[in-house]
Amino acid sequence: MTLRPPVVDWATDFDVMDPAYVEDPFSIWDDLRKTCPIAHTDRRGGAWLLTTYADVTAAAHDIERFSSLEIGVIASDEEPDDGLLPYGRPPISADPPLHTWTRRLLLPWFSHGRVQSYEEMTRDLCRRLIDGFMTGDHVDAAADYAQQIPVRVIAKILGVPEDLADVFTGWVRDVLEFADEPDRVRRGGDGILGFLIEHLQLRKDDPRDDLISQLAHTNHEGEPLEDSLVLGIAGLVLIAGIDTTWSAIGSALWHLAQHPDDTARLVAQPDLMDSAVEEFLRAYSPVTMARIVTADSEFEGCPMAAGDKLLMNFPAANRDPSAFDRADEVVLDRAHNRHIAFGTGIHRCAGSNLARMELRVAVEEWLARIPTFRLAEDAVVTWAGGQVRGPRSIPMVFP
Ligand code: HEM
Repeated sequence: MTLRPPVVDWATDFDVMDPAYVEDPFSIWDDLRKTCPIAHTDRRGGAWLLTTYADVTAAAHDIERFSSLEIGVIASDEEPDDGLLPYGRPPISADPPLHTWTRRLLLPWFSHGRVQSYEEMTRDLCRRLIDGFMTGDHVDAAADYAQQIPVRVIAKILGVPEDLADVFTGWVRDVLEFADEPDRVRRGGDGILGFLIEHLQLRKDDPRDDLISQLAHTNHEGEPLEDSLVLGIAGLVLIAGIDTTWSAIGSALWHLAQHPDDTARLVAQPDLMDSAVEEFLRAYSPVTMARIVTADSEFEGCPMAAGDKLLMNFPAANRDPSAFDRADEVVLDRAHNRHIAFGTGIHRCAGSNLARMELRVAVEEWLARIPTFRLAEDAVVTWAGGQVRGPRSIPMVFP
């Protein structure tokens, strides 16, 4: 891991992995929005950082100028495809036309109807997890609860055994959270790829009712999909659905642990749950993405050169006071909430129905069994940052 000096000037030298930014980016965004609002850094290969709702939305829709061929927030030389993933992980890492038809293949797997069919198993899973720690009076709400849920639901969709959940989680964290440590990035990427190569072959020979089987037996323009495309798409589903949703569940519980009034209100008025879920997603949006500038041009007064990286700061956009009243407060019954936690434009999250269901069910089941809880005395809450921000340890106690 390279040791970097702490950031002094966020407008000209930011670092999204700086501990101060990972811990509390909100005040940094507020300052940048007032004074900048587009920051730049030469660190980590250089990047621009957007902070307003208007700029992030405009850039997300300008797909000619801002390409998705490079979406990693932290540059890593260790993307471990070794030529096995020439298309990356479409649709997220593709521009049209590849983006359009690969996205179309995925969408049915995350329709409202399909997602409903995963709800009961998600609820059972949450109840089992709670049964496991309710015998005591404390729990790590991130590691022992939030982290355990999305990986098992994704395993079911992909058609892989649930008992590999911890291994998957380790791989995904290696890829997304430890961009500073090339060995871990490689280990995680190799693990995912090796696993999918093996399972692709199994599903080619013995198809079942799961996503890998479907991709293995689909045609596009009369031709079967190349293996590299199947591996890229299935790998994306694994990576995109785990850290993200776990982070959202953890942040919601972290918030409630410190806001007993909000907790009591949700327990008393369960019909607020849908708007509360949207508000948690807005206030604690986990995902930042990158784009690559396709041609020299000016964007909102900033001279951007072809090849520059642009950070699509969806979390900061969702805290922009010019787009949201009381942007820095969690308002459980917020009436107008056009947040962009799931992105906006052609790359808008394909798994948003699933993510919303998991977040809602995880909070509902928690509150049904644990209506009062708080952070443990002297609790040290730790956060992951970079591409996906969320709590990784939340020591909690309950009576
Ligand atoms: C709270 C949880 C989640 C958040 C906040 C989130 C956020 C996002 C964001 C911001 C994007 C846009 C990327 C861009 O503009 O470059 C995206 C794309 C995507 N997400 Fe999610 N996501 C979540 C959960 C999931 C889940 C559960 C899945 C499915 C298993 C999923 C699958 C995808 C896919 C496939 C794309 C690519 C769509 C495209 O490029 O057309 N996500 N997500």
